[in-house]
Amino acid sequence: MLASTLTLTPGVDTLRLFLHVTAAAVWVGGQFVMLGLLPTARQLGDGAAQKLARAFARLSWPAFALLVITGAWNMMALQSSTKSTGWNVVFSIKMVMVILAGLGAWLHGRAKSKGGTAAWGSIAGTASLLALLGGVMLAG
Ligand code: HEM
Repeated sequence: MLASTLTLTPGVDTLRLFLHVTAAAVWVGGQFVMLGLLPTARQLGDGAAQKLARAFARLSWPAFALLVITGAWNMMALQSSTKSTGWNVVFSIKMVMVILAGLGAWLHGRAKSKGGTAAWGSIAGTASLLALLGGVMLAG
């Protein structure tokens, strides 16, 4: 019976994964909410979209820092002997995506042209989604 093999995650692991997933929800989900709100923000007048972006940055960067801290905690909690080659490949790709996501978001905030802002924003959003997908594959 399937039900008899299911168990609950131990308390400390629950906290570790809860913090990691909550930070991922703010970092990844926030970027898509910002994208959805952009047309409305532009109707509110000059500078409204920029103000909104600066307010989001005050939430998203602490979330990114929490992702890195809890990500390192994840690594320490998992025994290296139990990781397959496939796991290590997905982890390496995920780390490249995390770097691209952070770098893309940083350059997005500093871009001077509309094209640069859009390009770096798309890179940050796509890399963040792929990092999230990699994370789900690692936890599986
Ligand atoms: C954009 C940044 C990141 C996102 C969106 C992200 C997202 C996720 C998600 C959604 C999970 C699945 C959790 C679950 O289903 O329980 C996960 C797991 C994991 N993440 Fe991340 N993560 C990020 C950054 C990092 C970093 C920087 C590291 C390492 C330094 C890391 C290491 C891990 C590991 C090892 C797991 C597996 C945890 C386990 O099986 O207990 N993550 N991640």
